[in-house]
Amino acid sequence: MIFDPITICNLNLQNRFVRSATHEFMAKKDGTPTSRLGDLYEELAKNEVGLIITGYSYVLPGGQSDIYQQGIYDDRFVEPYLKITERVHRYSSKIVLQIVHGGRQATFSDEFPVPIAPSSIKDGHSAAIPREMTDAEILEVIEAFTKAAVRAKKAGFDGVQLHCAHGFLLSNFISSYTNRRTDRWGAQWKTGQG
Ligand SMILES: Cc1cc2nc3c(=O)[nH]c(=O)nc-3n(C[C@H](O)[C@H](O)[C@H](O)COP(=O)(O)O)c2cc1C
Repeated sequence: MIFDPITICNLNLQNRFVRSATHEFMAKKDGTPTSRLGDLYEELAKNEVGLIITGYSYVLPGGQSDIYQQGIYDDRFVEPYLKITERVHRYSSKIVLQIVHGGRQATFSDEFPVPIAPSSIKDGHSAAIPREMTDAEILEVIEAFTKAAVRAKKAGFDGVQLHCAHGFLLSNFISSYTNRRTDRWGAQWKTGQG
């Protein structure tokens, strides 16, 4: 069965082997994907992995969580990603870009000294105490995810995967522990208010 083709929405996969998203530490410092990343994905495609999910790619400069992490926060990334997806599509594999904002687990820097989150709840992993996002910042992040998805499409990816786990920003919104907001972005599903 694992060798049988499967269709997920409009994604026709040659088999059910999925390479789960894995940060490869192979991008440049500014997040530009390198040809080494292309080498890796091509190797997976050559070996008939049905679906390749890339490592997490940050949608805004302040959303980076790790060194040599790949980015998708600017149009300049479309061209290098296109070269990579073309290499994968020479075979029968599909490739999906995982997109993320690190939220309270984003890397600190002079430019981004305080991480952001839906609410100011300390991160158990990094011990960072994030700043509660404003309404405008939330809209900015939504737009950044949208633009990232459009770039991914232009770059030849077969889809995007939203990273909603591991304590990053989106996972903080869907947890009533980390999302204590009482505005329209709050956890009303729990209290039945929304
Ligand atoms: C080095 C490393 C990097 C990872 N990077 C990501 C990532 O970028 N995005 C993600 O969703 N999961 C990431 N994961 C989690 C894996 O995709 C996978 O869910 C996890 O390793 C559990 O699967 P396993 O039991 O087959 O190892 C990473 C795991 C490892 C070990």
